[in-house]
Amino acid sequence: MYREQLPCVNYALLTLRIFFSDKTFMLQESLPINSSELVTNLEPVIAVSNLNHYFGEGGLRKQVLFYINLEIKAGEIVIMTGPSGSGKTTFLTLLGGLRSAQEGSLKILGQEICGASKRELTVLRRQIGYIFQAHNLMTFLTAKENVRMSLELHDEYLNQDIDGKAITMLETVGLADRVNYYPEKLSGGQKQRVAIARALVSHPKIVLADEPTAALDKKSGRDVVELMQKLAKEQGCTILLVTHDNRILDIADRIIYMEDGLLKSDGVDVTTSMH
Ligand SMILES: Nc1ncnc2c1ncn2[C@@H]1O[C@H](COP(=O)(O)OP(=O)(O)O)[C@@H](O)[C@H]1O
Ligand SMILES: [Mg+2]
Repeated sequence: MYREQLPCVNYALLTLRIFFSDKTFMLQESLPINSSELVTNLEPVIAVSNLNHYFGEGGLRKQVLFYINLEIKAGEIVIMTGPSGSGKTTFLTLLGGLRSAQEGSLKILGQEICGASKRELTVLRRQIGYIFQAHNLMTFLTAKENVRMSLELHDEYLNQDIDGKAITMLETVGLADRVNYYPEKLSGGQKQRVAIARALVSHPKIVLADEPTAALDKKSGRDVVELMQKLAKEQGCTILLVTHDNRILDIADRIIYMEDGLLKSDGVDVTTSMH
């Protein structure tokens, strides 16, 4: 199907491009950055040092992250837990370039993004897969069109069979028979699997997931994270997953704990620290 024949896809693509683009730049712009050139084997995929973050201005300015230090290596699956309001989502949005880092150092795929331009952040965002608590699928697009859209953000895929790639990815997540379904016809677990397919179809080096099982029952939640784990291991992708769900902690290579904006050391005893 051609993009011209699908105005709703065009609209959705534009919406997503706006999300991934800064309004001051052309929506179609792209930079020739090859992430594999930026990362050496010695360098962690994510390297954070002395990161601080503040919300508000003047007298209302409030610090929410305090001197965060963290290194994550290629292929690692790290789970972050901690009470509500402790700063987990804020930290994830900084790592993903969805929010500008203010103070300290934040290196993603070898590139310093603290103080990076909006254009640099836009390029970074295309190299990261995001999975949110609510699946955030476009309701007026089918499962396949939702997955396709993530490929359409990458110019290098435009000459390839993106329909075929989207369908193969949906088959991988067990949705071969749901390719042409709209989200409203899918269960919560199926929608989250479409979101996983969308996040992983372009083989990102990093996947950031914010409470991806929060809206799912026990079995669907487990299935979804096991699928993420399997695909990530196959693709050599690094995952940072925020969760309150202590039933999925065992998929992690490492567990870290955020409390009151402070990142506690690794190897924390999760049975006593969960809230
Ligand atoms: N956009 C924002 N403006 C002002 N304060 C915010 C904003 N987003 C989050 N906060 C505050 O920052 C703190 C951390 O929030 P958040 O990162 O969402 O925590 P968590 O994900 O761990 O629940 C909370 O006190 C929250 O109220
Ligand atoms: Mg949160």
